[in-house]
Amino acid sequence: MSRTDRFLRACRLENADCTPVWLMRQAGRYMAAYRKVREKYFLLEMFKTPDIAAGVTLQPVYAYELDAAIVFADILLPLEGMGVGLEFLEKEGPRIPNPVRTPADVANLAVPEPEEDLGYVLTCLRIVRAELANKVPLIGFAGAPFTLASYAIEGGSSRNFLRTKGMMYEHPALWNQLMEKLARRVASFLLAQGRAGAQVVQLFDSWVGCLSPADYQEYVLPHARYVFRCLREAGIPSIHFGTGTADLLPLMRAAGGEVVGVDWRTPIDVAWTRVGDGAGVQGNLDPVTLLAPRDVLVRKAGEILDRVGGRPGHVFNLGHGVLPSTPEDSVRALVDFVHQYEPGWLPDRR
Ligand code: CP3
Repeated sequence: MSRTDRFLRACRLENADCTPVWLMRQAGRYMAAYRKVREKYFLLEMFKTPDIAAGVTLQPVYAYELDAAIVFADILLPLEGMGVGLEFLEKEGPRIPNPVRTPADVANLAVPEPEEDLGYVLTCLRIVRAELANKVPLIGFAGAPFTLASYAIEGGSSRNFLRTKGMMYEHPALWNQLMEKLARRVASFLLAQGRAGAQVVQLFDSWVGCLSPADYQEYVLPHARYVFRCLREAGIPSIHFGTGTADLLPLMRAAGGEVVGVDWRTPIDVAWTRVGDGAGVQGNLDPVTLLAPRDVLVRKAGEILDRVGGRPGHVFNLGHGVLPSTPEDSVRALVDFVHQYEPGWLPDRR
């Protein structure tokens, strides 16, 4: 067995020759090869030029023994075609110039077919899938309705999600209309990615951990569930990711996803108990450990693997994306360590 199917087997909760590993944001600024391309283009230009996006997708897969490729795109791209605009400001991050705040704003949101405005992502997936020739599986992704709603409403990144929660609490019917539109948009985009060659898709609900379990259940779960139902009916395996979700894990599992993502704030075995039997678990290493001394990195990664104890359905990953200041050598060391790990390999570690 090799990089071909370790990851796909783990998504099906089957045993593999070793634990599969890939990293969220594995294509990005920590790589010199990425920075070299990035010097020449604006970020949106890179996403929208399939040859460039495909090349960047493949950079980490060729540089390290990663067990999956993830298409180079961004969770916010589907918002642009809905009519709110999208900019990536250098050094500041994403900005939505026409945020969604009023009933008219929600009513005016378009829900185009992905082929109409996101063809560049689908083309990138086809190029990468052909290039990988089944040697490494390909992941597609989208932002989850809640996380997308937060950007659409706030107009960019947010700390307290005041306007987002404001719409939820003050105008629940409007909130549900917005979430329904986003859920339809996300589901059709993920299905299109499956047709274009994505073998697994990940739903990024990066900021959903700002909600209480009761609010998740009332305002988010039905919409996330709709997306996962569409994927299940189409036979596309999925990963359900969030951060700060220690107490949301059972509800996220109920919403759907064959594999549930967990950050580093909960020990992975405790998280898995909350997720329950019948689903896999992905993640758990604090991205900052990649900046720590090598012995600390290996010890922390080993602790995760020890706690899992070889249970089928584990996908090794970080609890959130790779940080830009990460040394490339650390990524290589981590990937190789995960593959070579055997229980009790470093007996003096505990
Ligand atoms: O994982 C990968 O290699 C695929 C590429 C990918 C990007 N964004 C490219 C990108 C993925 C999976 C994403 C997801 C994404 N985008 C999320 C969810 C994951 C997470 O981190 O929680 C979110 C919240 C976004 C929105 C976004 N995009 C922000 C807040 C920013 C600015 C902050 C930052 O990290 O720079 C972006 C820009 C962005 N998207 C970059 C990349 C590689 C930075 C690019 C650059 O400046 O060169």
